[in-house]
Amino acid sequence: MKKLLIVCIFLAGFVACKGKEPAPGPVQPAEGAKKWVVGFSQCTFEDPWRINMNREMEDEATKHPELKLIIANGENKNAKQVADVENFIVKQVDLLIISPREAAPLTPGVEKAFAAGIPVIVLDRAIQSDQFTCFIGASNLAIGEAAGKYVAEKLGGRGKIVEIEGILGATPTQERRDGFHKVIAQYPTLEVIYQQPADYKRSPAIQVMQNALSAFPRIDAVYAHNDEMAIGAYLAAKAVGREKEMILVGIDGQGEAVKMIREGLLSATFVYPNGSREAIQYGIKVLKGESIPKKIMLETVRVTKDEALDYQGF
Ligand code: FRU
Repeated sequence: MKKLLIVCIFLAGFVACKGKEPAPGPVQPAEGAKKWVVGFSQCTFEDPWRINMNREMEDEATKHPELKLIIANGENKNAKQVADVENFIVKQVDLLIISPREAAPLTPGVEKAFAAGIPVIVLDRAIQSDQFTCFIGASNLAIGEAAGKYVAEKLGGRGKIVEIEGILGATPTQERRDGFHKVIAQYPTLEVIYQQPADYKRSPAIQVMQNALSAFPRIDAVYAHNDEMAIGAYLAAKAVGREKEMILVGIDGQGEAVKMIREGLLSATFVYPNGSREAIQYGIKVLKGESIPKKIMLETVRVTKDEALDYQGF
Protein backbone atom coordinates (compact mmCIF):
# COMPACT_ATOMS: atom_id res chain seq x y z
CA MET A 1 0.00 0.00 0.00
CA LYS A 2 2.76 2.40 1.07
CA LYS A 3 4.76 1.46 -2.01
CA LEU A 4 1.77 2.10 -4.25
CA LEU A 5 1.28 5.53 -2.70
CA ILE A 6 4.94 6.45 -3.28
CA VAL A 7 4.68 5.33 -6.91
CA CYS A 8 1.53 7.44 -7.35
CA ILE A 9 3.16 10.52 -5.86
CA PHE A 10 6.19 10.00 -8.10
CA LEU A 11 4.00 9.60 -11.19
CA ALA A 12 1.92 12.63 -10.27
CA GLY A 13 5.09 14.67 -9.93
CA PHE A 14 6.36 13.40 -13.25
CA VAL A 15 3.13 14.29 -15.06
CA ALA A 16 3.11 17.73 -13.41
CA CYS A 17 6.72 18.42 -14.46
CA LYS A 18 6.22 17.25 -18.00
CA GLY A 19 2.79 18.90 -18.42
CA LYS A 20 2.08 22.26 -20.02
CA GLU A 21 1.75 25.45 -18.00
CA PRO A 22 -1.49 25.30 -16.00
CA ALA A 23 -4.37 27.23 -17.53
CA PRO A 24 -5.11 30.53 -15.79
CA GLY A 25 -8.13 30.79 -13.51
CA PRO A 26 -9.06 29.58 -10.04
CA VAL A 27 -7.13 26.53 -8.92
CA GLN A 28 -9.40 23.74 -7.76
CA PRO A 29 -7.51 21.69 -5.20
CA ALA A 30 -7.71 17.93 -5.60
CA GLU A 31 -10.12 16.06 -3.33
CA GLY A 32 -7.31 15.17 -0.92
CA ALA A 33 -6.39 18.85 -0.53
CA LYS A 34 -9.79 19.81 0.90
CA LYS A 35 -9.14 20.99 4.41
CA TRP A 36 -12.56 21.02 5.97
CA VAL A 37 -15.60 18.79 5.82
CA VAL A 38 -18.88 20.56 6.57
CA GLY A 39 -21.97 18.47 7.29
CA PHE A 40 -25.33 20.15 6.75
CA SER A 41 -28.25 18.35 8.36
CA GLN A 42 -31.24 19.65 6.40
CA CYS A 43 -34.65 18.66 7.83
CA THR A 44 -36.28 18.09 4.42
CA PHE A 45 -35.71 18.50 0.68
CA GLU A 46 -39.46 18.58 0.00
CA ASP A 47 -40.37 22.21 -0.62
CA PRO A 48 -39.10 25.11 -2.78
CA TRP A 49 -37.76 27.04 0.20
CA ARG A 50 -35.52 24.11 1.25
CA ILE A 51 -34.45 23.36 -2.32
CA ASN A 52 -33.40 27.00 -2.71
CA MET A 53 -31.62 26.89 0.65
CA ASN A 54 -29.57 23.85 -0.45
CA ARG A 55 -28.82 25.42 -3.83
CA GLU A 56 -27.56 28.66 -2.27
CA MET A 57 -25.46 26.83 0.29
CA GLU A 58 -23.86 24.65 -2.40
CA ASP A 59 -23.21 27.73 -4.51
CA GLU A 60 -21.58 29.56 -1.60
CA ALA A 61 -19.51 26.49 -0.73
CA THR A 62 -18.07 26.29 -4.26
CA LYS A 63 -16.49 29.71 -3.66
CA HIS A 64 -14.32 28.01 -1.05
CA PRO A 65 -12.50 25.10 -2.70
CA GLU A 66 -10.91 24.15 0.62
CA LEU A 67 -14.34 23.15 1.85
CA LYS A 68 -16.25 19.93 1.20
CA LEU A 69 -19.98 20.23 1.86
CA ILE A 70 -22.14 17.18 2.53
CA ILE A 71 -25.92 17.72 2.77
CA ALA A 72 -28.01 15.06 4.53
CA ASN A 73 -31.75 14.84 3.87
CA GLY A 74 -33.76 14.45 7.08
CA GLU A 75 -36.78 13.48 4.95
CA ASN A 76 -39.07 15.53 7.21
CA LYS A 77 -38.69 12.91 9.97
CA ASN A 78 -37.15 13.72 13.34
CA ALA A 79 -35.70 10.19 13.71
CA LYS A 80 -33.98 10.37 10.31
CA GLN A 81 -32.48 13.76 11.13
CA VAL A 82 -31.29 12.54 14.55
CA ALA A 83 -29.51 9.66 12.73
CA ASP A 84 -27.97 12.11 10.22
CA VAL A 85 -26.51 14.20 13.05
CA GLU A 86 -25.15 11.06 14.73
CA ASN A 87 -23.57 10.06 11.44
CA PHE A 88 -21.84 13.46 11.12
CA ILE A 89 -20.50 13.10 14.68
CA VAL A 90 -19.11 9.63 13.87
CA LYS A 91 -17.55 11.03 10.68
CA GLN A 92 -15.98 13.78 12.82
CA VAL A 93 -16.95 16.58 10.46
CA ASP A 94 -15.13 19.86 11.04
CA LEU A 95 -18.35 21.87 11.19
CA LEU A 96 -22.00 20.93 11.62
CA ILE A 97 -24.75 23.12 10.19
CA ILE A 98 -28.28 22.10 11.13
CA SER A 99 -31.77 23.31 10.34
CA PRO A 100 -33.72 21.16 12.82
CA ARG A 101 -37.19 19.86 11.97
CA GLU A 102 -38.44 20.23 15.53
CA ALA A 103 -36.62 21.75 18.49
CA ALA A 104 -36.95 19.12 21.24
CA PRO A 105 -35.98 15.92 19.37
CA LEU A 106 -32.91 17.50 17.75
CA THR A 107 -31.54 19.19 20.88
CA PRO A 108 -29.60 16.18 22.32
CA GLY A 109 -27.79 15.53 19.02
CA VAL A 110 -26.67 19.14 18.71
CA GLU A 111 -25.48 19.13 22.32
CA LYS A 112 -23.58 15.90 21.72
CA ALA A 113 -21.84 17.27 18.61
CA PHE A 114 -20.91 20.47 20.43
CA ALA A 115 -19.60 18.52 23.44
CA ALA A 116 -17.49 16.45 21.03
CA GLY A 117 -15.77 19.66 19.94
CA ILE A 118 -17.60 20.12 16.63
CA PRO A 119 -18.63 23.76 16.08
CA VAL A 120 -22.36 23.93 15.32
CA ILE A 121 -24.31 26.55 13.39
CA VAL A 122 -28.07 26.32 13.94
CA LEU A 123 -30.06 27.70 11.02
CA ASP A 124 -33.63 29.06 10.76
CA ARG A 125 -35.31 26.79 13.35
CA ALA A 126 -33.93 26.88 16.90
CA ILE A 127 -33.22 24.16 19.50
CA GLN A 128 -33.85 24.10 23.26
CA SER A 129 -30.30 24.67 24.44
CA ASP A 130 -27.43 27.15 24.20
CA GLN A 131 -24.89 24.41 23.48
CA PHE A 132 -24.02 25.49 19.95
CA THR A 133 -21.72 28.03 18.33
CA CYS A 134 -24.09 30.36 16.50
CA PHE A 135 -27.72 30.75 15.50
CA ILE A 136 -28.53 32.38 12.14
CA GLY A 137 -32.10 33.28 11.22
CA ALA A 138 -34.76 35.95 10.97
CA SER A 139 -37.04 36.99 13.81
CA ASN A 140 -40.24 35.01 13.34
CA LEU A 141 -41.80 36.95 16.18
CA ALA A 142 -41.26 40.16 14.21
CA ILE A 143 -42.61 38.52 11.05
CA GLY A 144 -45.72 37.34 12.94
CA GLU A 145 -46.25 40.87 14.28
CA ALA A 146 -45.79 42.41 10.84
CA ALA A 147 -48.33 39.95 9.40
CA GLY A 148 -50.75 40.82 12.24
CA LYS A 149 -50.40 44.54 11.55
CA TYR A 150 -50.92 44.02 7.83
CA VAL A 151 -54.08 41.93 8.32
CA ALA A 152 -55.45 44.37 10.93
CA GLU A 153 -54.87 47.31 8.57
CA LYS A 154 -56.31 45.57 5.52
CA LEU A 155 -59.45 44.52 7.40
CA GLY A 156 -59.87 47.90 9.09
CA GLY A 157 -59.55 46.26 12.50
CA ARG A 158 -62.61 44.02 12.09
CA GLY A 159 -63.04 40.51 10.75
CA LYS A 160 -62.75 36.74 10.99
CA ILE A 161 -59.38 35.09 10.45
CA VAL A 162 -58.31 31.52 9.67
CA GLU A 163 -54.76 30.70 10.78
CA ILE A 164 -52.94 27.77 9.15
CA GLU A 165 -49.95 26.81 11.23
CA GLY A 166 -46.66 25.08 10.43
CA ILE A 167 -45.13 22.08 12.23
CA LEU A 168 -46.14 22.53 15.87
CA GLY A 169 -42.79 21.61 17.44
CA ALA A 170 -40.80 23.94 15.17
CA THR A 171 -39.83 27.30 16.68
CA PRO A 172 -40.86 29.47 13.67
CA THR A 173 -44.42 28.12 14.07
CA GLN A 174 -44.57 29.15 17.72
CA GLU A 175 -43.10 32.58 17.05
CA ARG A 176 -45.19 33.28 13.95
CA ARG A 177 -48.27 32.43 16.00
CA ASP A 178 -47.24 34.45 19.09
CA GLY A 179 -46.24 37.56 17.13
CA PHE A 180 -49.47 37.53 15.15
CA HIS A 181 -51.72 37.00 18.18
CA LYS A 182 -49.95 39.74 20.14
CA VAL A 183 -51.09 42.26 17.52
CA ILE A 184 -54.54 40.79 16.84
CA ALA A 185 -55.33 40.80 20.58
CA GLN A 186 -55.24 44.62 20.47
CA TYR A 187 -58.35 44.62 18.26
CA PRO A 188 -61.46 43.34 20.04
CA THR A 189 -63.31 43.02 16.73
CA LEU A 190 -60.63 40.90 15.04
CA GLU A 191 -61.02 37.21 15.72
CA VAL A 192 -59.10 34.05 14.84
CA ILE A 193 -62.04 31.70 14.28
CA TYR A 194 -60.12 28.62 13.12
CA GLN A 195 -56.53 27.57 13.79
CA GLN A 196 -55.05 24.30 12.55
CA PRO A 197 -51.57 23.01 11.62
CA ALA A 198 -50.81 21.88 8.07
CA ASP A 199 -47.08 21.17 8.62
CA TYR A 200 -45.88 23.84 6.17
CA LYS A 201 -47.27 21.78 3.27
CA ARG A 202 -49.67 22.62 0.48
CA SER A 203 -51.98 19.61 0.37
CA PRO A 204 -52.69 19.40 4.13
CA ALA A 205 -53.42 23.16 3.91
CA ILE A 206 -56.01 22.51 1.19
CA GLN A 207 -57.66 20.06 3.59
CA VAL A 208 -57.57 22.48 6.54
CA MET A 209 -59.03 25.26 4.38
CA GLN A 210 -61.79 22.99 3.06
CA ASN A 211 -62.79 22.31 6.67
CA ALA A 212 -62.73 26.03 7.51
CA LEU A 213 -64.78 26.90 4.43
CA SER A 214 -67.49 24.41 5.27
CA ALA A 215 -67.59 25.46 8.93
CA PHE A 216 -67.71 29.25 8.34
CA PRO A 217 -69.95 31.08 5.90
CA ARG A 218 -67.67 34.11 6.00
CA ILE A 219 -63.86 34.30 6.22
CA ASP A 220 -62.17 37.70 5.88
CA ALA A 221 -58.52 36.68 6.04
CA VAL A 222 -56.24 33.67 5.96
CA TYR A 223 -52.91 33.91 7.75
CA ALA A 224 -50.74 30.96 6.67
CA HIS A 225 -47.35 30.37 8.29
CA ASN A 226 -45.78 29.91 4.86
CA ASP A 227 -46.51 30.50 1.18
CA GLU A 228 -47.04 26.83 0.31
CA MET A 229 -49.98 26.78 2.74
CA ALA A 230 -51.28 30.18 1.59
CA ILE A 231 -51.36 28.82 -1.98
CA GLY A 232 -53.15 25.69 -0.71
CA ALA A 233 -55.74 27.86 1.05
CA TYR A 234 -56.25 29.92 -2.12
CA LEU A 235 -56.81 26.75 -4.20
CA ALA A 236 -59.38 25.43 -1.71
CA ALA A 237 -61.25 28.76 -1.64
CA LYS A 238 -61.15 29.07 -5.43
CA ALA A 239 -62.52 25.54 -5.84
CA VAL A 240 -65.75 26.68 -4.13
CA GLY A 241 -65.75 30.16 -5.67
CA ARG A 242 -64.97 31.99 -2.42
CA GLU A 243 -61.41 33.24 -3.06
CA LYS A 244 -62.49 36.90 -3.52
CA GLU A 245 -64.20 36.97 -0.13
CA MET A 246 -60.88 37.07 1.76
CA ILE A 247 -57.30 38.29 1.79
CA LEU A 248 -54.58 35.64 1.94
CA VAL A 249 -51.20 36.21 3.56
CA GLY A 250 -48.18 33.92 3.57
CA ILE A 251 -44.53 33.93 4.61
CA ASP A 252 -41.30 33.06 2.69
CA GLY A 253 -41.36 35.12 -0.52
CA GLN A 254 -41.61 32.06 -2.75
CA GLY A 255 -41.60 32.89 -6.48
CA GLU A 256 -44.97 31.29 -7.15
CA ALA A 257 -46.58 33.26 -4.30
CA VAL A 258 -44.95 36.51 -5.47
CA LYS A 259 -46.39 35.95 -8.94
CA MET A 260 -49.83 35.35 -7.44
CA ILE A 261 -49.49 38.58 -5.43
CA ARG A 262 -48.73 40.53 -8.62
CA GLU A 263 -51.83 38.93 -10.17
CA GLY A 264 -53.92 39.96 -7.15
CA LEU A 265 -54.66 36.39 -6.06
CA LEU A 266 -52.71 36.51 -2.79
CA SER A 267 -52.34 39.67 -0.75
CA ALA A 268 -48.88 39.66 0.85
CA THR A 269 -45.87 37.60 1.83
CA PHE A 270 -42.91 38.26 4.11
CA VAL A 271 -39.52 37.25 2.76
CA TYR A 272 -37.97 34.68 5.08
CA PRO A 273 -34.23 34.55 4.35
CA ASN A 274 -32.75 31.05 4.60
CA GLY A 275 -29.32 32.15 5.91
CA SER A 276 -27.47 29.41 4.04
CA ARG A 277 -24.84 31.72 2.46
CA GLU A 278 -24.22 33.34 5.84
CA ALA A 279 -23.85 29.86 7.40
CA ILE A 280 -20.96 29.09 5.03
CA GLN A 281 -19.40 32.55 5.44
CA TYR A 282 -19.51 32.45 9.24
CA GLY A 283 -18.61 28.75 9.23
CA ILE A 284 -15.36 29.55 7.40
CA LYS A 285 -14.54 32.13 10.08
CA VAL A 286 -15.11 29.56 12.81
CA LEU A 287 -12.93 27.03 10.98
CA LYS A 288 -10.17 29.64 10.75
CA GLY A 289 -10.38 30.12 14.50
CA GLU A 290 -12.04 33.55 14.40
CA SER A 291 -14.76 34.34 16.90
CA ILE A 292 -18.28 35.11 15.65
CA PRO A 293 -21.45 36.39 17.35
CA LYS A 294 -23.73 33.85 19.06
CA LYS A 295 -26.76 35.16 17.17
CA ILE A 296 -27.02 36.60 13.66
CA MET A 297 -30.39 38.06 12.77
CA LEU A 298 -31.46 38.50 9.14
CA GLU A 299 -34.00 40.99 7.81
CA THR A 300 -37.44 40.38 6.33
CA VAL A 301 -39.16 42.37 3.55
CA ARG A 302 -42.90 42.70 3.02
CA VAL A 303 -44.02 41.98 -0.54
CA THR A 304 -47.40 43.23 -1.76
CA LYS A 305 -48.77 44.29 -5.13
CA ASP A 306 -47.27 47.76 -4.57
CA GLU A 307 -44.19 47.01 -2.47
CA ALA A 308 -40.83 45.34 -3.17
CA LEU A 309 -41.59 45.30 -6.88
CA ASP A 310 -38.11 44.20 -7.88
CA TYR A 311 -38.28 41.13 -5.63
CA GLN A 312 -38.95 37.99 -7.69
CA GLY A 313 -38.56 35.24 -5.10
CA PHE A 314 -37.17 31.75 -5.68
C1 FRU B 1 -39.62 25.11 4.64
C2 FRU B 1 -40.25 25.92 5.68
C3 FRU B 1 -40.50 27.32 5.18
C4 FRU B 1 -40.62 28.03 6.43
C5 FRU B 1 -39.50 27.41 7.21
C6 FRU B 1 -39.67 27.49 8.66
O1 FRU B 1 -39.44 23.79 5.07
O2 FRU B 1 -41.44 25.32 6.08
O3 FRU B 1 -41.61 27.41 4.36
O4 FRU B 1 -40.54 29.38 6.34
O5 FRU B 1 -39.45 26.08 6.82
O6 FRU B 1 -38.64 26.85 9.32
